[in-house]
Amino acid sequence: MAANFANFSLIDHPLVKKDVTVLRDVSTPPEIFRAAVKRISNILAVEICKDLKLTEIEIETPLEKTTGHKLAYDVVLVPVLRAGLGMVSGFLEIIPDAKVGHIGLQRDETTLKPIEYYYKTPKNIDSSKVILIDPMLATGGSGAEAINYLKKRGVKNLIFACLVAAPEGIKKLLSEHPDVRIFGAAQDRELNNKGYILPGLGDAGDRTFGTL
Ligand code: PRP
Ligand code: URA
Repeated sequence: MAANFANFSLIDHPLVKKDVTVLRDVSTPPEIFRAAVKRISNILAVEICKDLKLTEIEIETPLEKTTGHKLAYDVVLVPVLRAGLGMVSGFLEIIPDAKVGHIGLQRDETTLKPIEYYYKTPKNIDSSKVILIDPMLATGGSGAEAINYLKKRGVKNLIFACLVAAPEGIKKLLSEHPDVRIFGAAQDRELNNKGYILPGLGDAGDRTFGTL
């Protein structure tokens, strides 16, 4: 039975559960893995976007004037390289006008600390709704560091979206960034002594890009 965490929302959906099983299966090849990541990302995006704010606009139908809606801000997706890239197309299908920034972080496999190697985000990111995307929330080191970078650039309106979250990573993010809501497709049991999530799905980047 998974623990309940404030600010952590588990997406409870049968199609997500089915596709998380595809991701976990060691025999799933990269092309099937990527397709499952994309489908889960579609559903995550729909759930996350339920809270987006709207402003009213006046438009004309072919028959008369009426009031419609547009998003109150730009949405910026920020995948953490490299594994986060696999989730971008699924999010863009639901939010096609979102901009996409990138943060390059590589976890040092000995210290488990994240090392930054790339950062590029849109200029108006401080006034945008930002969805930080990384399939794995393990120790939480990469996620917490990515949020630090974004907050230093003035980001205030921020959500973290992942596929598999470990309790250790959820606790770290919520203690260092209690203002950031986390959405996940699965909450797993624990980390092993190498910082891998159990039962998990292995190395998400390697499974996505076939670099095992
Ligand atoms: C993976 C994953 C996260 C990080 C999670 O990336 O995509 O960014 O590990 O681990 P943490 O919560 O303990 O920091 P990795 O560093 O393996 O890089 P990759 O995406 O290039 O494979
Ligand atoms: N990064 C991954 O890709 N998988 C894990 O289980 C932990 C960190």
